[in-house]
Amino acid sequence: MPEKYMTWTLQSSGATENLQYGEATQSSTALGSGEVRVSMHAASLNYRDLVIAKGSLPVTQATPNTVPGSDGAGVVHSVGANVTCFKVGDKVLPHMVQGVANDFLPRLDAISGGLGQAVDGTLCEEGVYPAESLVRMPINMSYAQAATLGCSGLTAWNALMGLRGRAVQAGDFVLVQGTGGVSIAALQFAKAAGATVVATTGKDVNVARLQQLGAAHVINYKTDPTWGETARKLTPDGRGFDHIVDVGADATMNQSLKAVRTDGVVSLVGVLGDGLNKIDIMSALWSVCVVRGVLLGSKDMFREMVAFCEDKNVQPALDDVSFSLADAKGAYERLEKQQHFSKVVIQIR
Ligand SMILES: NC(=O)c1ccc[n+]([C@@H]2O[C@H](COP(=O)([O-])OP(=O)(O)OC[C@H]3O[C@@H](n4cnc5c(N)ncnc54)[C@H](OP(=O)(O)O)[C@@H]3O)[C@@H](O)[C@H]2O)c1
Repeated sequence: MPEKYMTWTLQSSGATENLQYGEATQSSTALGSGEVRVSMHAASLNYRDLVIAKGSLPVTQATPNTVPGSDGAGVVHSVGANVTCFKVGDKVLPHMVQGVANDFLPRLDAISGGLGQAVDGTLCEEGVYPAESLVRMPINMSYAQAATLGCSGLTAWNALMGLRGRAVQAGDFVLVQGTGGVSIAALQFAKAAGATVVATTGKDVNVARLQQLGAAHVINYKTDPTWGETARKLTPDGRGFDHIVDVGADATMNQSLKAVRTDGVVSLVGVLGDGLNKIDIMSALWSVCVVRGVLLGSKDMFREMVAFCEDKNVQPALDDVSFSLADAKGAYERLEKQQHFSKVVIQIR
């Protein structure tokens, strides 16, 4: 008899009300060649999951009745034919993009074809994924911590370590913005690599926690509108930052370009701004720097990040509040209201 399990499905993009929780049945047919059934233990929400549920843009529309969720961690329950890289009991993390080479860097079309949008994601008790899309889970993390790595974690890793010859190293100065998942992962990776990190936040209540995670200085970007210039003064001789992880686009890029050092790297990863401000891209010319678009990262990068996290014993910071699978809508609400610190986790088992 096929087993039953609980899952969320997004009936159609448009509103989080379109998320439905219910029972599903394992397909009565055997797993296909190369497929792995994973018992999910934890998932974490990403800003991407919110915009897919809302579906306000053509590129954020989900295929109807897709299981949402970009990120998760679980245990191999069973394997189909020709699966040699994983066995029952292995702890694994799915990469968001399936059917691609190990060194493939996803562009927007691949991201739109990824987990939780075009193919079934992670907000379920059981998921079926191609074995080639799975990555071994780090041995030093809980499922909840490991469930933060696949989307925001990998993006932060790519931003800091993905540009050949320009990986963050000891002695570098790194600027991260706000206390969302990407920025906190970037803070933790940069600190583990030996960099000095300056962080921003719009909420003073976050300052102590950012310092506990290793931020040398914290600036409130709401009370200090020229926070980029302020941050630059905190670098040796005011030379500017080696790496900046820009999450706000129109809300942050102009200040990021004020803060970057000559030949430094500004990684444009996010669009948290409201689109109301013009980005002065000519500042990139006047600042003599690299502005780099970063979308997720490759499977090779995912494996490198796992090895780094084990080597440096990186322990991803989580939000104080977590949710059960049945309560996942509460997690969406917390993310939307920006009440979280770092990652909102959904405990599945
Ligand atoms: N390129 C990619 O592949 C990729 C992957 C993942 C995410 N992203 C994008 O990266 C962005 C961040 O994602 P996330 O998952 O980290 O989001 P998140 O967890 O929802 O981050 C929200 C936090 O960002 C901070 N924030 C909001 N507006 C800000 C502003 N104007 N300036 C500085 N900080 C601001 C706030 O922190 P405080 O309350 O502390 O101010 C807020 O709590 C999103 O746009 C997301 O779509 C891109």
